[in-house]
This record gives sequence, structure tokens and C-alpha cells, in this order.
Amino acid sequence: MPEFKRNQRHPLTFELNGGEVEGYVEPRLLLSDFLRHHLGATGTHVGCEHGVCGACTVRIDGKAIRSCLTLAIQAEGRSVETVEGLTQSDGELTPLQQAFHENFALQCGFCTPGILMSMSELLEHSADPSEEDVREALSGNICRCTGYQEIVNAVLQTARQMRETAS
Ligand code: FES
Ligand code: FES
Repeated sequence: MPEFKRNQRHPLTFELNGGEVEGYVEPRLLLSDFLRHHLGATGTHVGCEHGVCGACTVRIDGKAIRSCLTLAIQAEGRSVETVEGLTQSDGELTPLQQAFHENFALQCGFCTPGILMSMSELLEHSADPSEEDVREALSGNICRCTGYQEIVNAVLQTARQMRETAS
């Protein structure tokens, strides 16, 4: 385990949405701040900054985490995925994003990047989630606009479509 000194900057390298990124960071710098302010990856939103709202959710090595509770240095050597990584290179939306669009599952959109990252993790691990499973997985993400039902509908629609495509 390397020794980290408070104000000293340390080299940092990790994979972001499939491409390598590098930087020099103080050990106290949050991953959310590194993504937004150093890399310009502003799709990751910051709401409460203390682990409650889920707006800052990204995936590290496939696991959805709160980037406001994660130090940038903890991403060293890992694979980080943000909402920018969901969209195909030709700009086409993923089935989950398309379902959000079709089901009116967003209004102001502030919560949406974090919810997409949480729900993409759910759909990767559960091909046929129940409404209760979706609501449980959604419980770490706060949305002040939609009332959640449209989000649940969008996730269930996506799961259904993915099953149909796979069969
Ligand atoms: S900004 Fe990270 S949980 Fe709210
Ligand atoms: S769409 Fe506004 S907070 Fe969720």
C-alpha cells in the first residue's frame, strides 16, 4: 500500500469508458470532482455530496458506486464507466436510454445519469427483474420529479426487450 501525503499529488491512471485517462491528484480529491473538473465528464452529477441522492453514481469494475464517497485515487488501475460511456459511438441510445425517453422517465434529468448507471447494473445481473426488484435497486437514487413509476416502467420494458432479443 503506497503512502499518501495530504497535499502531495500522486499519479493516477485508470480506464474511463474504455479509454485510458491519467492525472495527478491529491489523495483527498473525490472521484466525482476528478471526473467533472479534471476530465470534463460532467454527465456525472453531484447533488448532496454525502452519499444520499445517488446522482453521482458511476460504475467501477461493473459495480455501481457513489463517486462522491470515493476518492479519485481509489480508481487507480480500475475500469470506470460513466453515463457518457452508455451511448454508442454513433450516438445511438442504448435500449435503457431509449426506454427512458419513451416512458417519460425523466423531467429535469438531474437524477437520470445516476439512475441509468444503477439500472444498467441491475439489468446486467437480472434478466427478469420484478417491479419490486427494480424499486429495491432504485432505492439508492432520489428523483424529485417523476414519482418513480415511469422509471420502473422503463426498466421493466428494457428487461422485456432484452429477453425478447436474446430468445
Ligand atoms: S452526490 Fe453523491 S450521493 Fe448525492
Ligand atoms: S427527473 Fe428531476 S430529479 Fe429526477
